[in-house]
Amino acid sequence: MINNEYQLQNIKENSYVLQEYFHGMDLYSFIEHSLMPMKTFLLFAMELTKALDVLHKRDIIHADVSPFCIFIHPDKHQIMLAHSQEKQSLEQNQFYQAPEQSGRVQYKVTKATDIYSLGALFYHMLSGDVPFYSKDKIGLIHNHIAKKTPNLWEVLSDIPMVLSNMVSKMMHKNPEERYITLASLHYDLNRCLELFNNENEIREFEIDYIGKISQFNYTNTLYGVDKEIKEIIDFTSCIEKQSVSMLCVKGRSGVGKTALVNSVIEKTNTQFEYIVESKFDQYKEHASFETLYSALQNLMKQILSADESSLGFFKAKLVETLGAEAQVLIEVIPELEIIIGPQSPVEALSALDSKVRLDRLLSRFFQLFSLFEKPLCLLFEDLQWSDIATLQWLKTAVLDLSNIFIIITYRDDEVGEKHPLSLMLEELKSYNANIKEIPLSSMSQATIHELLVTSMDLTQVSEVAEIIFKKTSGNTFFVMQFLKLLQEDSAIWFDYKDLSWHCNLEKIQNLPISNNVIEPSD
Ligand SMILES: Nc1ncnc2c1ncn2[C@@H]1O[C@H](COP(=O)(O)OP(=O)(O)OP(=O)(O)O)[C@@H](O)[C@H]1O
Ligand SMILES: [Mg+2]
Repeated sequence: MINNEYQLQNIKENSYVLQEYFHGMDLYSFIEHSLMPMKTFLLFAMELTKALDVLHKRDIIHADVSPFCIFIHPDKHQIMLAHSQEKQSLEQNQFYQAPEQSGRVQYKVTKATDIYSLGALFYHMLSGDVPFYSKDKIGLIHNHIAKKTPNLWEVLSDIPMVLSNMVSKMMHKNPEERYITLASLHYDLNRCLELFNNENEIREFEIDYIGKISQFNYTNTLYGVDKEIKEIIDFTSCIEKQSVSMLCVKGRSGVGKTALVNSVIEKTNTQFEYIVESKFDQYKEHASFETLYSALQNLMKQILSADESSLGFFKAKLVETLGAEAQVLIEVIPELEIIIGPQSPVEALSALDSKVRLDRLLSRFFQLFSLFEKPLCLLFEDLQWSDIATLQWLKTAVLDLSNIFIIITYRDDEVGEKHPLSLMLEELKSYNANIKEIPLSSMSQATIHELLVTSMDLTQVSEVAEIIFKKTSGNTFFVMQFLKLLQEDSAIWFDYKDLSWHCNLEKIQNLPISNNVIEPSD
């Protein structure tokens, strides 16, 4: 438990906290010399988890969990969670600090940071030793960041496997892979205690089950697009090496174009030699080919990280294809120079002749990809904001090149009949180019119903689906934002007592969508 019996007091301009005297010892002194019996560990572990959960529920991150800031009453199994103050303790706390606290990894300090430290502490409480040791601070940080966390079962032969797995999950290097909530950890610890008490053996069970059913996953699963996914997979399986195929995913803003394309790319990525993604920006004036060039720079980086023989092959072909004019492409794709080395300057030409030369070299450059076994996949997102030059290039690419698979997405309601993109697509169709169009529409009420049933098994699901459908008109972005809002405002919630989702229909009905939901982003 966390000692809640405190009050903030003021004497003149100084504030201080008045709290009940806690009669106990620090946890480090308790575990320093002897191992905790299993039942004692479980009781303290549950108290610690509960105490930290009190902080997390108030959106407070402790960020310093270690045995030096925990005081225990060994007989009553009570604990007090404080902040360590002594200098020595601060240094020793580093044995329990998460990789992200070093500032040397991409992850931020979040509540998951406390879960890592608690895992390291559990490791110490169970094994009598810290998970990582090093004489100096840098070595210790390195171990937490890079070294595989030792499994408790490898250190202690009689530790229940499930407990070892729980600690490993808490100490995962990637915060997203740790327990999502302390409530779920508490549930698992309690299960261990029940098994220990009733069966005298903590056998294996599925860990973090509560984490899975209590979190609504907003991004990973796609609903109502099975037919579209199947059509696209069928289309990609018939791509011909001798030509260029184009997939056009179109629909209103927020309908799910990007999510669908990402999901399909994930499913088919082994079919392609390289995949390059690029996106046009609404608020940026696009100079000709700017987005194409940044896509090609990205492609060069992928090629540079390929194995030596592929790189050698590509280099030889590049030199042969671009010849004395290679510098023209280096000016727009500087990464090329890393592959083929510095090149001699080229003759200065008039603007028109320069453009003709550049187009010729770009075309030769892309012809190189016909030599690869699998096609090159080029994704252009939000083509409604493309520059004209890129649209023209896309047309010639589809008609003249080979072994390339192009995916485009665009908002069809922002593109009229006379828009250059519509004209380009019409022209391609008149040439019988291999184009597959996938129009996406808003979610139906039945899809929202399916989403609610599969993701949270909500009570009164039909009524909730109907309200959400009416309020959002089924726009996927709005549906997802509204669901987030419903959770934030506790109009839907997961009840840890009966382990199921509940809702307040009146609250859902009264929550206005327009005031709280921002417009779909670009
Ligand atoms: N079929 C789906 N099922 C569940 N969620 C989805 C589905 N499609 C998209 N989403 C979610 O809806 C939101 C909007 O989707 P997305 O960004 O793909 O829309 P978009 O059509 O690309 O919009 P824009 O025109 O603004 O680029 C995202 O949060 C995405 O994860
Ligand atoms: Mg998009």
